[in-house]
Amino acid sequence: MHIDEIIKNRKTQKVLANKVWPVSSNQKPIDQTINELLELAASAPYHRKSHKKYGKNNQLNSCLPWRCYTLDTENCRLLFNYIEKQNIKAGKVSNMLAAADGLMLMTWLPEPLTTNVKKQDKTSEPVPFEGNIKNMEHIAASSAAIQNILIGATARNLPNYWSSGGQLRNVTLRKFLGIPMKEILLGALFIFPEDSEQKGAIIKSGSLRHQGKELDSWVKRVDISLL
Ligand SMILES: Cc1cc2nc3c(=O)[nH]c(=O)nc-3n(C[C@H](O)[C@H](O)[C@H](O)COP(=O)(O)O)c2cc1C
Repeated sequence: MHIDEIIKNRKTQKVLANKVWPVSSNQKPIDQTINELLELAASAPYHRKSHKKYGKNNQLNSCLPWRCYTLDTENCRLLFNYIEKQNIKAGKVSNMLAAADGLMLMTWLPEPLTTNVKKQDKTSEPVPFEGNIKNMEHIAASSAAIQNILIGATARNLPNYWSSGGQLRNVTLRKFLGIPMKEILLGALFIFPEDSEQKGAIIKSGSLRHQGKELDSWVKRVDISLL
């Protein structure tokens, strides 16, 4: 596919399974796909290095302003089971974990607070974070990385979905998955099997898919030649 076509074809597809889909005995293809998508994420533009505190005593010591935590199919199902066992009301997230081939949890790394904003306790994300240009650019870069992943998945004909995360934001599941609460979840990216439609699952699209698209409603063509 031509790149324009891939970008236009990218769409939210929430694949909701009522029963858990079996895990393929061969996890190699999804591991490889996730690796390729991670390489695409790493190719996104970024303008500011993450704060050095994130690299201290941490294997994840990249200066990129985001982190990614990945789950293959087996781990999606194990997470599904844990959610059931803990009786966590995760709604559609559970249905999607029953169907997904992979899950990529993308966080961004907020700058330390410089003002007297009340610090959050360790059981919640540092929201609200400080409104400054660095944080804005961290989110912007992390969003570009996410978009690269979605475009890459679309190019591979894999239905995909950028979710805010629902219960995946909360401390119980974050602790279980080993995702520090000082990071802020920007997207839970679900990667579904190519043949999801044939498997008879409900596939929900994004409610805003066709809204606000008319160029004249958000573009002003600046013409200063006549001034
Ligand atoms: C930051 C972000 C968070 C999102 N979170 C959710 C979500 O939690 N639930 C949901 O149904 N859609 C979520 N979406 C997907 C949007 O609903 C979807 O992109 C929008 O309806 C446009 O549809 P499209 O992706 O098919 O173009 C999110 C999208 C973005 C960019």
